[in-house]
Amino acid sequence: QHVALLFGGDSSEHDVSKRSAHNIFDAMDKEKYDVSLFLITKDGIILDDAASHRVFAGEKEEDVATEVASQLDIANPLAPILNLESTKKIDVFFPIIHGNLGEDGTIQGLLRLLKKPYVGSGVQASGLAYDKDFTKKILTATGVRNTKYVLVTPQNVSDWSYARISEKLASKILFIKPSRQGSSIGIHKVENEAEYEAGMQDALRYDTKVLVEEAIEGPEEVEISILGNEHPQASKIGAIKVPDSDAFYTYDNKFVDASAVEFTIPVELPEAVSNEVTQMALDAYQALELKGMARIDFLVSEDLTPYLSEINTLPGFTNISLYPQLWEASGISYPELIDRLIDLAQD
Ligand code: DAL
Ligand code: MG
Repeated sequence: QHVALLFGGDSSEHDVSKRSAHNIFDAMDKEKYDVSLFLITKDGIILDDAASHRVFAGEKEEDVATEVASQLDIANPLAPILNLESTKKIDVFFPIIHGNLGEDGTIQGLLRLLKKPYVGSGVQASGLAYDKDFTKKILTATGVRNTKYVLVTPQNVSDWSYARISEKLASKILFIKPSRQGSSIGIHKVENEAEYEAGMQDALRYDTKVLVEEAIEGPEEVEISILGNEHPQASKIGAIKVPDSDAFYTYDNKFVDASAVEFTIPVELPEAVSNEVTQMALDAYQALELKGMARIDFLVSEDLTPYLSEINTLPGFTNISLYPQLWEASGISYPELIDRLIDLAQD
């Protein structure tokens, strides 16, 4: 089978995507698969297989892109993918682009137009799950517990302040989150007006929809992996403990220096709690009509009430990422996981 890995992309998670793709490539059984690489640069230009391989081999992306620039069709950045000769032979696309234009349904739309099966959720489900505001609306309608929030936009930003939101949500600590972002980019934990103002200003740089959420008391962050289409299965649950000073799982302690973060894979939770987390995750997966895979993240309060915090339809596959590790802990090896995901791909 010929599989094409699509990675990079112009989102703020470009570097994370490169790490994910490298790990997936390494885990693929080369006897079984011919693999083509398509690295999308930060400028949105697609590098062909040969140029992408050079970046995997350690050359700087910028240097390779500049060197091959004369062959790149800047007017048509999609040229390598739209080129019939290079895509005809591809049986399945594996997009592993986190964030904007990758996880939000855009690239899925392109692959659908190409009439090629691809790994992961479809256009609509990707778009919904990538938007925390829409996700929460569907979760609430489905009866899946999630945190209360206020939606702030450039139109209503002047109506809201730390004091008003804090009173409305009955929460001294608030979390500010761009609705459509990944890897904790643009997220701020705030406890007063000045922090709120600064956090809101930053979050609005990333998106025109910003969630301000209540804080959960003494939360434990746990994650679960889901695999499948109509009959999804759930992995064991993993827990993440961040250093006290950070108090939440930030971009830096995900991808810059994870040495202070403690992972427990799997984590022992009281049976009723782990059953509830698993059921909530499966209910959310089915309500949003997700396909292939998702990593679903929760906060469990001090009194052991789980809240679904977010869904990642193209979760990280970096060395510290929980999606593949939770499957390993649940009896599905990395190469087997890749096989299953490719088998589940659909148009
Ligand atoms: N958005 C990152 C890649 C994750 O959820 O793993
Ligand atoms: Mg995310």
